[in-house]
Amino acid sequence: MSSPPSHAHALPPPRPARSDEAARLWALRTQAVRATCISHYDAATVAAWSASPLPDSYARMIAAGGAVLIEEDGELLGYGIVDLDGAEVEAMFVDPAHGGRGLGARLMAEIDAIARTHGLPALTVASSLNAVAFYQAMGFRTIGEDAYAHPSGVSLACVRMHKHL
Ligand SMILES: CC(C)(COP(=O)(O)OP(=O)(O)OC[C@H]1O[C@@H](n2cnc3c(N)ncnc32)[C@H](O)[C@@H]1OP(=O)(O)O)[C@@H](O)C(=O)NCCC(=O)NCCS
Repeated sequence: MSSPPSHAHALPPPRPARSDEAARLWALRTQAVRATCISHYDAATVAAWSASPLPDSYARMIAAGGAVLIEEDGELLGYGIVDLDGAEVEAMFVDPAHGGRGLGARLMAEIDAIARTHGLPALTVASSLNAVAFYQAMGFRTIGEDAYAHPSGVSLACVRMHKHL
C-alpha cells in the first residue's frame, strides 16, 4: 500500500476558536503584520497598524462561529475569521515561521465551508497588498483598490476582492 503524500498529514485540522482565545489570536496577528506586511507598507504604517488593540468585534465574530484556528502541540499556527453578518473575511493570519505550508489555504477552505453553511452566496475581503496573490490563489477576483481607514489612524492601502461560493 502506498503512503499518503507527506503534506496530507502534515497539517493539523482546523477547529473553531473559543471566545476566550481572542487575545491569543490578536497576538499572532500582531506578529504576522510586523513580519509579513512590512514587504508592502512603510515602517511607520506597520508600527501604527500592528500596535492597535484587540477590537471588540473579535468577540462578536468568534461567538457567531466565524473564527477557526490551527494549532500544533499547543502552538497557534494560524487563524481566520469571517464576519458572517457582513459576508467579509476579516482576518487571515499565519505564523510567519509556518508560511507556505498550506495553512492559509486550509483555513480559507474552512471559512468557505462555514460561510456556505450560513447560506452566504459570496465573500468579500479588503486584502492587504501583500496578501492579494494569496487570495487570488484562493479564488478571489479583484474589484478595485481601496483605502481602509484603520482604527489606529493610518490609512491602509488595500485591494477589494470578491469570491462566489
Ligand atoms: C497571506 C497568508 C495568510 C498566506 O498564508 P500561507 O499559509 O503562507 O499560505 P498557503 O501556504 O496556504 O498558500 C496558499 C496559496 O497562496 C499562494 N500564496 C501565499 N502567499 C503568497 C505570496 N505572498 N505570494 C504569492 N502567492 C502566495 C501560495 O503559493 C499557494 O498557492 P497554490 O495553492 O497555487 O500553491 C500569510 O502570508 C499571512 O498571514 N500574511 C500576513 C497577514 C496578512 O496579510 N493577512 C491577510 C490580511 S487581509
